[in-house]
Amino acid sequence: MVEQIDVTGGSRIYIGNAEQLLKEILPEKRVIVISDSNLDRTHHDLIAPYEHILIGLGEQAKSLVTLDEIYRQLIELGADRSTFILGIGGGIVTDIAGFVASTYMRGVEFGFITTTLLGSVDASVGGKNGVNVGGFKNMVGTFSQPSFVICDVALLHSLPNREFRAGLAEVIKTAILGDEELFERLEQTSFEELRQNDELLSEIIIRSVKVKASVVAEDEREGGRRRILNLGHTIAHAIEKCTSKFSHGEAVATGLFHITNTSLSQNNIAESDAKRIFTLLSRYGFDTSLPIERKQLFDAIKGDKKRNGNALHIILPTAIGAVEDRLISFEELESLL
Ligand SMILES: NC(=O)c1ccc[n+]([C@@H]2O[C@H](COP(=O)([O-])OP(=O)(O)OC[C@H]3O[C@@H](n4cnc5c(N)ncnc54)[C@H](O)[C@@H]3O)[C@@H](O)[C@H]2O)c1
Repeated sequence: MVEQIDVTGGSRIYIGNAEQLLKEILPEKRVIVISDSNLDRTHHDLIAPYEHILIGLGEQAKSLVTLDEIYRQLIELGADRSTFILGIGGGIVTDIAGFVASTYMRGVEFGFITTTLLGSVDASVGGKNGVNVGGFKNMVGTFSQPSFVICDVALLHSLPNREFRAGLAEVIKTAILGDEELFERLEQTSFEELRQNDELLSEIIIRSVKVKASVVAEDEREGGRRRILNLGHTIAHAIEKCTSKFSHGEAVATGLFHITNTSLSQNNIAESDAKRIFTLLSRYGFDTSLPIERKQLFDAIKGDKKRNGNALHIILPTAIGAVEDRLISFEELESLL
């Protein structure tokens, strides 16, 4: 069974069997795949039929150097404006493939097969792409919608537990900011069950994608409403800037914990709701202790690309399924964190 969710800008997300879907929706064009060396090992059969470019692993690969290498390989391969770029991988691959496709020869058509849980519920949805510069996350990028995104839960079986858990952080974020029922489902199930039950996992992914798609539809270029998707991310990005100990998803879980605590200290969320968030994060095995000193965290936050002069939009949870977007000065923020 295939589920389809329309995202803004003519982009469509398909949840179903990847190989089958590719046969139906891939345009009749020359296809060049961008993927990474792990995927070439775990899902070689998906990549091998196409000309492909493999990138390195981790956030350090999400760089201008990698872009330069990919552009050169595309030129060598003779890729032109009629070439279709297919990104097969997690959020790092799709962020890079999306950026390459939206800039190579001023833009070529592209699509994704998302292969991580984080990518399926977040990174592949919404048309943002980009790379890190000077230690700052996603400093350079574009808003550009893929023609399609395919999410095939069977591809997630080979995902290591740590990566699967990282994806759950974004699912929990989505539930907190906009879907109380999703939050309840997560309270009722477990890490182990989600790893084994594809039907349940598909349902969780579909709910998450629908929340993100509806927020993006209201505000594609993040002028306002879309900011709520950054719940927990200001702290997460600051952590990622200071240490490579945490993956993005793990940093998001820590960010969710601390921003909920901040909201609680402001009497902005009921204690019972805050406790449910803390319990859920612990139920899914997240270590939410801050891996860096508070001073270091705050200094990194001040460098956030989303700063607005000496203030920053911070998203505070106010209930399960609801958040508030508040412009907070650095001075106030320092006293809150
Ligand atoms: N564009 C957006 O809107 C957006 C949103 C959220 C996150 N992101 C970005 O996404 C990135 C994180 O994405 P991620 O967590 O998917 O990381 P990732 O792409 O690094 O994937 C995690 C690891 O899992 C491996 N992997 C991928 N699929 C696999 C599979 N099916 N089986 C086995 N191994 C597999 C990868 O090779 C990698 O080592 C960050 O850079 C973050 O900034 C972007």
